[in-house]
Amino acid sequence: MSILSPARACGIDFGTSNSTVGWLRPGQPNLLELEDGRITLPSVIFFNTEERRPVYGRQALQEYLEGYEGRLMRSLKSLLGSRLLKSETTVLGSALPFRELLGFFIGELKKRAESQASRTFEEVVLGRPVFFVDDDSAADQEAQNTLVAVAHKLGFKEVSFQYEPIAAAFDYESTLEREELVLIIDIGGGTSDFSLVRLAPQRHHQADRQSDILATGGVHIGGNDFDKQLSLAGVMPLFGYGSRMKSDAFMPTSYHLNLATWHTINALYAQKTQLALQNMRYDIVDATGIDRLFSLIEQRAGHWLAMRVEDSKIALSERDLCPIDLSRIEPGLVAELTRELFESAIEPLLERIRASLAQLLSNADIKADQVDTLFFTGGSSGVSALRRSLAAMLPNARSVEGNTFGSIGSGLAIEAWKRYG
Ligand SMILES: Nc1ncnc2c1ncn2[C@@H]1O[C@H](COP(=O)(O)OP(=O)(O)OP(=O)(O)O)[C@@H](O)[C@H]1O
Ligand SMILES: [Mg+2]
Repeated sequence: MSILSPARACGIDFGTSNSTVGWLRPGQPNLLELEDGRITLPSVIFFNTEERRPVYGRQALQEYLEGYEGRLMRSLKSLLGSRLLKSETTVLGSALPFRELLGFFIGELKKRAESQASRTFEEVVLGRPVFFVDDDSAADQEAQNTLVAVAHKLGFKEVSFQYEPIAAAFDYESTLEREELVLIIDIGGGTSDFSLVRLAPQRHHQADRQSDILATGGVHIGGNDFDKQLSLAGVMPLFGYGSRMKSDAFMPTSYHLNLATWHTINALYAQKTQLALQNMRYDIVDATGIDRLFSLIEQRAGHWLAMRVEDSKIALSERDLCPIDLSRIEPGLVAELTRELFESAIEPLLERIRASLAQLLSNADIKADQVDTLFFTGGSSGVSALRRSLAAMLPNARSVEGNTFGSIGSGLAIEAWKRYG
């Protein structure tokens, strides 16, 4: 098939936070518009109780923030390979298996892409992280199998995979003039992925690039983990995290850990949790924090708070200071978040990311000074401490910033065309 006729196959970058759909067409950009003329659809579903319908993406976040009653589901991709996937959740009063939620969201991506492209897609190349699950190849395989099953159920006849960072690399390669040894670093919401690849303009159109992929690696750490650490360092202490009990022990940490993690916030609203907290209150030396926690629970403000923390983290990529106004919990209450606090909170995670990169270089038998280019993609590559700390490991490499949100989907469009025409 010639590149002059549009392919019947698409590429889907189903991300933890944002998703894109790529489709190679002559003379057109590689990414389809999915919402309000934009190429990303945030990976979010909101089940609006009143209107009994799911809404997606920015609209979902908007309705949730406007205070509509309902259930907001985020980071669906993190469910892949986790034990939660076998369970179900209650949505609009009925039990819904988590697996079906994935089908809802990916089905919506397909639907929107098809309506933009004015055709149905029967073949798909799905991006996948290097590891869905760390150090558990059975769970990792199961995560991929789940996606295959979901895609078939949605009507895709052919389903195959490409590593997300490799897809990002293919897109970058189209801009090169000479061969380079490139380390692709994709830091998203859920994972940090690395790929060491040989890129060259003359290789760009070869179908099989396996031999140019020298090594892939990664670790299950991403922006969601940064949010959690920022919350634990700068916000949760205001809500009693680390309070002393009269016995001199610390208050158990599970409540605040749950509150700082999107998926487990609802656990705090369970009646038995509230009873346990109420009993504990009398054993806590200073109840100021736990009383704020009660107020937050009463307002069901856990998800709101998690979003404020994420917004602050993003703002801290540009600024040194980004306070969160908590006056809805207590008049005048502010969480003073600074870049310094953020960077020290995530340092243990950065260390694990560095270790993963060092491991990859050693597995590939590549010395740090052989790498020509660091190619950054993924939203969390906006964290400058992270970029600095990785760049310092590779003294000869220049840093290139890719299209933060579009590189992968665009590369998958190229891959889908190569595989299926
Ligand atoms: N300017 C920024 N600075 C720091 N973090 C950012 C910035 N912009 C977005 N993020 C974070 O990037 C993450 C989303 O990135 P991205 O859309 O690349 O992830 P994803 O592809 O959905 O996830 P994954 O690849 O892990 O499945 C979120 O955690 C978000 O908070
Ligand atoms: Mg991604």
